[in-house]
Amino acid sequence: MDKLQIHGGVALEGDVRISGAKNATLPILAACLLADGPVIVSNVPHLQDVTTMIELLGRMGVSVTVDEKMRIEVDASTIREHFAPYELVKTMRASILVLGPLLARFGQADVSLPGGCAIGARPVNIHVAGLQAMGADIHIENGYIKARAERLHGARFVLETVTVTGTENLMMAAALATGRTVLENAAREPEVVDLAQFLIAMGAKIQGAGSDTIIIDGVERLHGTSYEVLPDRIEAGTYLVAGAITSGRIRVKNARPGHLDAVIGKLQEAGADVATGENWVEVDMRGRRPRSVDIRTAPYPAFPTDMQAQFAALNTVADGVGTIIETIFENRFMHMLEMRRMGAEIRLEGNTAIIKGVERLTAAPVMATDLRASASLILAALIADGRTEIERIYHIDRGYEAIEEKFQQLGARIRRTPG
Ligand code: EPU
Repeated sequence: MDKLQIHGGVALEGDVRISGAKNATLPILAACLLADGPVIVSNVPHLQDVTTMIELLGRMGVSVTVDEKMRIEVDASTIREHFAPYELVKTMRASILVLGPLLARFGQADVSLPGGCAIGARPVNIHVAGLQAMGADIHIENGYIKARAERLHGARFVLETVTVTGTENLMMAAALATGRTVLENAAREPEVVDLAQFLIAMGAKIQGAGSDTIIIDGVERLHGTSYEVLPDRIEAGTYLVAGAITSGRIRVKNARPGHLDAVIGKLQEAGADVATGENWVEVDMRGRRPRSVDIRTAPYPAFPTDMQAQFAALNTVADGVGTIIETIFENRFMHMLEMRRMGAEIRLEGNTAIIKGVERLTAAPVMATDLRASASLILAALIADGRTEIERIYHIDRGYEAIEEKFQQLGARIRRTPG
């Protein structure tokens, strides 16, 4: 298995172009199942999770073509099966996003139940309950969600917990249901809004995406369209923290500053000078050591759980003591244990990590356990003395496009070695 080798100690400087958002691309590709004509999706990031979603659609008989610019054309008219097998769902939980579209458009879906996950239990009960409220007949059989419906009908549904993919599944299903669906306590993430805009471009009637109440008036059919995916705010945030942790200066281009408010606020608290333009953000530490920050993760627009690990890395070398509280996933602290092996001073109490910044981390062999944990280990390695080797980096390829190239461009000494 490939490894990443990183020699720490370089203050990163320069510009980096942000790719399309993974967590918008995945629901948008699933939503292509709803269209009765070909759809073209652009600004798609070249990532393992995107390849998995394409494979999933392909297995169903959907025709998918990808050009050299990662523009993807999806035509669901050739579909043969309405089935998401365990072997794909177990590698990518976001496969659950085909459940709503398959059921709404074809009246049936057999989707494997996602199993355990490195960051928490992550059940899908709200996805299922919402579809049942819309008239679906759903049974769990042999590890599969077997869903059937003549035609879904609109419903008023209160999501018991704010869930991103749950909101997306229900919004997609409601787009082709009869009558009005009102989703209360909906997720407000920019990726939910991007999916809503994509559905609207296909002819859906949706109001309120981006607020906690989304109103969907079902239509008879959705048509093909062309759509450009929004930039990845988590990738952008990760590079901004790289600038801060190495006391450097990094500008992320092709970003949406408005989606990064909570992250930018914390970078400023850490002592960074932050400048923004229409589609860029720049962080400049002017050679200073960052200050510790307190973080509490919560649904958008609060601080994202997907940036928690990166700020934990920042706190390990910051001046002072910082507390990190993870409220979304119960087991998202595996990176803390690896960072301790690099000399970080971290105390864990349930969902709280208390991190006392040290002057320097030292290189150590470490292991990535999930996507954002991997990113945080790269950040820690960038500031550690010596050569850090990170194993199991397939996690990083699920969510960060061309990560070594992008970091090399900023001056980092990073390379991939075949294992
Ligand atoms: N939850 C339930 N029941 C459900 C659904 C969710 O109890 O039916 C709980 C979860 O267990 C969790 C909370 O609700 O405690 C929120 O989870 P959510 O459903 O919002 O997570 P998700 O939709 O599975 C998406 C992103 C994650 C990101 C979370 C939170 C995609 C494809 N994935 O996951 O991204 O961390 O929202 O913002 O959009 C990543 O990119 O690294 C990643 C893990």
